[in-house]
Amino acid sequence: MEKPDTDVILQMSGIDIVFPGVHALDSVDFTLRRNEIHSIMGENGAGKSTLIKVLTGVYKKGKGTITLDGEEINPQSPLEARSYGVNSVYQEINLCDNLSVAENIFIGRQKTRFGKINWKQIKAGAEEALRRLNISIDVSKLLGSYSVAIKQMIAIARAVDMNSRVLILDEPTSSLDRPEVEQLFTTIRKLRDEGLSVIFISHFLDQIYELCDRVTVLRNGKLIGEYVLQDLPRLELISKMVGKDFSNLKNQNKSISNKTANEVFIEAKDLGKKHVVEPFNLLVRRGETLGFAGLLGSGRTEVAGLLFGIEEADSGDLELNKQKKIFKKPRDAINQLIAFCPEDRKKNGIIYELSVRENIILAMQAKQGIFKSIPLKKQIEIADDYIKKLGIVTPSQDIPVGNLSGGNQQKVILARWLVTRPELLILDEPTRGIDVAAKAEIMNLAMQLCAEGMSLIFISSEIEEVIRCSDRVAIMRDRKKIAEIEGEDLQAEKILNIIAADTSGAAASPPGVEA
Ligand SMILES: Nc1ncnc2c1ncn2[C@@H]1O[C@H](COP(=O)(O)OP(=O)(O)OP(=O)(O)O)[C@@H](O)[C@H]1O
Ligand SMILES: [Mg+2]
Repeated sequence: MEKPDTDVILQMSGIDIVFPGVHALDSVDFTLRRNEIHSIMGENGAGKSTLIKVLTGVYKKGKGTITLDGEEINPQSPLEARSYGVNSVYQEINLCDNLSVAENIFIGRQKTRFGKINWKQIKAGAEEALRRLNISIDVSKLLGSYSVAIKQMIAIARAVDMNSRVLILDEPTSSLDRPEVEQLFTTIRKLRDEGLSVIFISHFLDQIYELCDRVTVLRNGKLIGEYVLQDLPRLELISKMVGKDFSNLKNQNKSISNKTANEVFIEAKDLGKKHVVEPFNLLVRRGETLGFAGLLGSGRTEVAGLLFGIEEADSGDLELNKQKKIFKKPRDAINQLIAFCPEDRKKNGIIYELSVRENIILAMQAKQGIFKSIPLKKQIEIADDYIKKLGIVTPSQDIPVGNLSGGNQQKVILARWLVTRPELLILDEPTRGIDVAAKAEIMNLAMQLCAEGMSLIFISSEIEEVIRCSDRVAIMRDRKKIAEIEGEDLQAEKILNIIAADTSGAAASPPGVEA
């Protein structure tokens, strides 16, 4: 639906930016209107984040103009952009775990009074900023003590202040659960209705259609077009993003998986750890996929942590090939050919300064021991192979991985573990930040490996995705495995009912978030 007030607040014209080997933006135009929520969509590496970084003064544009409210601006730094009321929350949140929430909200813009920091005012200001987002938490506690979800809300609170004109959210919902997403959307709509213009970048189509008024599509650094979402069928949007007919991606399902034997690869018997996850049983056969469903914080990641030696169990047994094993550290699990691709690429894996190739080789090299280095020629071959297999968009394997787009960094981590040819692969939110087409390709690849005998544990908040890929699904709630379903019961609605069923309203808002 066209918003009645459609005058333009922001006009970017002919924006052009070139990185070594990549024409990241090729004369791109972008128009943002007052009181609208506008999405920018495109595959991993299409140029979305780059366009935002030009707008916020992180990158210097080569050619082109930016006009805000009729006046030309040329922001040279995020701080300068901020002074125009252009605020953003990046894909990679940059907050400090070892500072308090209040400090995080006011870093770099402390209110000083006669040169002194006024803590009382900062605390009150932080509380007020969070209240606008309907969050009430103790702002004097360290940021690190809160969940990713809360951190993202805090990053948003930090971005929105009274003189904001444009708010930019680059994949803010990647690690939020449904109730949190809803809360965020309510807030965004409220901010829009209060007069803010919002740019919202996400790979979740449902969210785009639910929240946004318009969409601008980029492909390979070029503008494809601007559309009113209501008038644009989903499949058409996807074809515009990927530049080809999309129908073949719908065929993806579990059917290529072929359980060779019923041999059990891994079995946990009453395995648990106090205060981390309650004792649970699980079993994965060779060639099989066990999915994990449950809300963020329900214990899915903790189970993975026990199976990978990140946490040492204090009860129960773990068996591999029917033999008891004790994992005290990840190395113990890696030695047994278990691989774990973590949820938070920033914290748990990617090393920005190393090249794409070095990042891909890392786990394999570690497994061989640092003294037996893999010959360069072999490294290049392997990296090439996986860059192709996973469709990693990069001008070369020698550039720092930090130069890749977010989704492509995620693929590099995945490649790192696939290279080790694991017997059990644990994927924790593997497709976070990955575009629709690449998502299907990655899951197809994983399924193919299962067909060759690998076992897979697949953790994701996207229930449909879990169902599509899994033979059985374990359901977690409150750090406890509460059910396991298979066959005809593998339906989103059933899973949601199990998660939501009961009792004390366990599926309601997470701690700290008011309903
Ligand atoms: N600082 C940089 N140095 C070199 N190349 C870069 C840099 N930043 C981005 N690029 C390249 O520019 C292109 C566009 O990247 P960008 O981050 O804008 O993609 P994106 O659309 O946000 O993708 P994603 O969905 O994966 O986040 C990519 O090919 C990326 O590798
Ligand atoms: Mg991006």
